[in-house]
Amino acid sequence: MTLFPELFGPVLQSSLVGKAVEKGLVSFELIQIRDFATDKHRTVDDTPYGGGEGMLLKPDVLYRAWEKAGGKRPAPEKTATILLSPQGEHFTQATARELSTYEHLILVCGHYEGVDERFIELCVDREVSIGDYVLTGGELPALVLIDGITRLVPGVVGNEQSVARDSLEDDLLKYPQYTRPREFQGLGVPEILLSGDHGAIARWRLAESRARTSRKRPDLFKRRG
Ligand code: ADE
Repeated sequence: MTLFPELFGPVLQSSLVGKAVEKGLVSFELIQIRDFATDKHRTVDDTPYGGGEGMLLKPDVLYRAWEKAGGKRPAPEKTATILLSPQGEHFTQATARELSTYEHLILVCGHYEGVDERFIELCVDREVSIGDYVLTGGELPALVLIDGITRLVPGVVGNEQSVARDSLEDDLLKYPQYTRPREFQGLGVPEILLSGDHGAIARWRLAESRARTSRKRPDLFKRRG
């Protein structure tokens, strides 16, 4: 649900997400919130009661758009309505993994100063933030969720093993990787990777992942214990 559906087209049609759509593994419906305004100016926002900055998205307009998106109460199994908001829980790899098991997600992109609290109370199951900074709307965050979740849907990434070895699965950063040429600008490739000893390579990679995580992301490293 968005006021700017045109922002989604290129992402939903390209790369891995586009292929997942072509294969029928995921599908998307873009709902223009403005289509659910009823007055002749197609008003979607209004000033806050009590005064203050900016405009809020109106609950009645949002509610009709949400019903069109398939929103129901009580929420059916494995469905959720998510409001993208800087006030939400942080989006992490664990959240992406959890949401990739859902059958139907309704992503609501807020705009202006926010949305009427009654829409949140009635319709929103979770508020999700992509980080501690404020963007002009929920569209880019929604695209981040779409990308991060879609690639975890079974069958989307050909090799399930490669998803399991992603950076941040298990809270570890990825080990250093190299491809041809064997020498580039005077720099070689670690000998062990040329050894053909798969056990030794796996141990080296794990050690590099740990060292890297401890150096670059001490917060993640501590959390692993
Ligand atoms: N809307 C505006 N800023 C946001 C953020 N950081 N995360 C999610 N939604 C947002």
